[in-house]
Amino acid sequence: MKQNIYDNNEFFQKYQALRARENNYNRLLEQPNFQALVPDLMERNVLDIGCGSGDFAAFCLSKGASNVKGIDISQNMITAAEEKYSHARLQFEQVAFEDAEVIEGSIDFISSSLAFHYFADFDALIKKISTALCTNGTLLFSMEHPIVTANKEMDSWICDTQGNYLYYALDNYHEEGYRTQTWLVDGVVMYHRTLSTIINTLVINGLQIEKILEPIPTLEATRKLPSIAKEIRRPSFLIIRAKKLPNYI
Ligand SMILES: C[S@@+](CC[C@H](N)C(=O)[O-])C[C@H]1O[C@@H](n2cnc3c(N)ncnc32)[C@H](O)[C@@H]1O
Repeated sequence: MKQNIYDNNEFFQKYQALRARENNYNRLLEQPNFQALVPDLMERNVLDIGCGSGDFAAFCLSKGASNVKGIDISQNMITAAEEKYSHARLQFEQVAFEDAEVIEGSIDFISSSLAFHYFADFDALIKKISTALCTNGTLLFSMEHPIVTANKEMDSWICDTQGNYLYYALDNYHEEGYRTQTWLVDGVVMYHRTLSTIINTLVINGLQIEKILEPIPTLEATRKLPSIAKEIRRPSFLIIRAKKLPNYI
């Protein structure tokens, strides 16, 4: 099942308000680590999956990419991206990646920031990416860490009566599948998969892992946003860079 929650207007407005904050998890934790793993993009053909309002696609263009395409299932997001960025070498398209047409071996760099946990079929997703990448092309993605997506019905942070965080509780880790969460609105569907499933799916689809990051907030980040300090105690995001192996069919 494909859920297009970003076209729910209440969700979209709350999400955009979150992203507009000067200090948020994306700016302080996920993006600095994600961008640190971007390869040389000079004259490269780039596809950004789940591009949102286009910031990372525009970043790739600024790094010298010859062409960047951002795709997203959400019309709200694509409209926001088109309002923000206009360039002959940057295109946006409203389409679910599952339904997008890709030409075999045509893309040098495929990126996806915080979208993979919305995909129901991870194997099909990675297979299609591997097909689209050229030999030695790079996949870089971030997603909610499996430790964050595992729990089903419990509050993951266990607090004392004063609301201080005591510890992070983990359950249902080995039960993969969808999770319905309340995040900004009720009924947000995400998918949980174990670390071994994520890694093995890359491996069997001809993608060689080059780097894995589980970002830790810097001292500077905790100074700007004190509530982010708890992310030192558990991994919040998983970031992987992988390379398409030669002769993979
Ligand atoms: C958390 S947002 C991240 C947006 C952007 N990558 C960023 O970091 O600013 C996740 C995005 O993935 C998109 N998305 C979810 N499922 C998708 C799918 N099946 N195909 C394409 N985009 C999808 C959502 O619409 C949303 O814009």
